[in-house]
Order: sequence, then C-alpha cells, then structure tokens
Amino acid sequence: MTGAVERLPRSCPLGICDGSGWIVNDDDSASPCDCRERRIRQARTRGVRSVLPAKYQGVGFDRPPLTEMARDPAARQVVEHVRGYIGELGARIAGGDGLWLTGDIGTGKTTLAMLVSKSAIEAGHSVAIYSLPRLLARIRRTYDADASELSYLDFFRRLTSVELLHIDDLGAEKSSDWVLEQLYAIVDERYVEGRAMVVTTNLDLPQLEAQIGPRTVSRLAEICGDPLPLFGTDQRYRVA
Ligand SMILES: Nc1ncnc2c1ncn2[C@@H]1O[C@H](COP(=O)(O)OP(=O)(O)O)[C@@H](O)[C@H]1O
Ligand SMILES: [Mg+2]
Ligand SMILES: [Zn+2]
Repeated sequence: MTGAVERLPRSCPLGICDGSGWIVNDDDSASPCDCRERRIRQARTRGVRSVLPAKYQGVGFDRPPLTEMARDPAARQVVEHVRGYIGELGARIAGGDGLWLTGDIGTGKTTLAMLVSKSAIEAGHSVAIYSLPRLLARIRRTYDADASELSYLDFFRRLTSVELLHIDDLGAEKSSDWVLEQLYAIVDERYVEGRAMVVTTNLDLPQLEAQIGPRTVSRLAEICGDPLPLFGTDQRYRVA
C-alpha cells in the first residue's frame, strides 16, 4: 500500500516552508510551497519502488515487451483495452471497475497488470499487490495471530480499503476452507464498497471456481469485467 502524499520529508528542501509543503499566509489561508510538487513526485517514485516488484518497475507502453505486444495481432486488442483503462484511470478506480487478464503462461498478463498498478501509484492512488499464494499465506498467518503482525481485522481493513487491489496469478494453489472464506470476505467487501481490482490468471473459469470457489469467482467477475484473453507461446523462453 502506498501513502505517497503522506510521506513528505520533514524539512523544506528550499528552506521556505516548515516542511509541511504549505506556507501559512497572514490571513491564515495556506498556499502550496514550491517544494510541494517536487516532493509529491519523489514520494510517488518511492511508492512505485516500494510497492512494485523490481522486475516490473520499468514497465511502459513505449518499451518491450509492450511495444512487441502492441504489434502482435493476438495481443494488440488487449493492450489497447488496458491503454484505454489507464487513460480513464481515475474514473475507473472511483467507479470500482477493474481488469481481468487471462491466458497462457508468459504472454504478458503480469506485465500489463503491473503497468496498471504503476500508473495508479503514480497518480497518487493507494495500491496493494499480492500474488494469490502470498495473499493466502498471509491470511493463514493471521489465523494464529502473532502479536508482531497485523491482526486479521487490520489486515482485512487494509485489503478492503486500498483503492486498487492487484492479485496476480489467481488460483495457483489449493487452500483451506477457512482461508478461502476470508478471501471471499475480502473480495465481497470490495464489491459492496465499489473498489477496483486487477487480477491475472492462467486458469479458465471452471478451473478457477474449483480452486477458490464459485462465489469468489463470480464477485471478481462483477468487479473486473470480462476476462481479456492473452494466448500464445511462452515468451519467457523465447530466444531473443
Ligand atoms: N508478447 C511478448 N513479446 C516479448 N516478450 C514478452 C511478451 N509477453 C511477455 N513477454 C516477456 O515474457 C516474460 C513473462 O511475462 P509476464 O508478464 O510475466 O507473463 P505472464 O504473467 O502472462 O506469465 C517477461 O519477461 C516479459 O517481458
Ligand atoms: Mg504472471
Ligand atoms: Zn517547502
């Protein structure tokens, strides 16, 4: 989760304001200090670094693999769909509309989803990114809640309140009923509150239903819309 705007440093780099990024005028109104824009930009860069996995921090429409995907007849439409989503990002996130990327392994699903998350962080939205196995493991640990970790309730609140929840690799493993019930509770709460999600999976709907339950899959489909298909050969092992 990012707190891009909250994480401003405490002293003004220009020596003008008190470090808050604001100058209080004689009439008690406040004006933004010249340091503010710059520091918000820096905080967003830090947000990208702390939330996005290192491998995906440089993702962009203007560089491979997205430039290659945009030329590929099998992937082009999905790339354009995601470009359209990012073009209306603020409204889409506010409306609780997400994205669902499905298809074979190594076709760029995670890359596209990471670009959505990167764009959201840069626009100042709060974002949490988990692979499903990591998320389920994290939920499982709250069961025997250790005092050093967030309690389940705090973790639940964090996952339901973040503006964009990105879950990568849905359905990668089987899990206990209790854990799957908590996953449903998180997804259902986001659905009820109208909060956006981005998901990727290489399973089709029946396979996914068998792994995480039909109720969760149906809620995800309501939030994320029709699965965008990316099929083809695994580009990970392609000889450059
Ligand atoms: N169409 C493509 N052309 C070239 N490289 C690609 C393409 N799609 C994906 N890649 C590369 O393949 C690897 C896997 O991409 P990733 O987004 O993790 O795929 P997925 O999530 O679908 O398994 C990455 O290194 C990515 O840069
Ligand atoms: Mg992936
Ligand atoms: Zn300042």
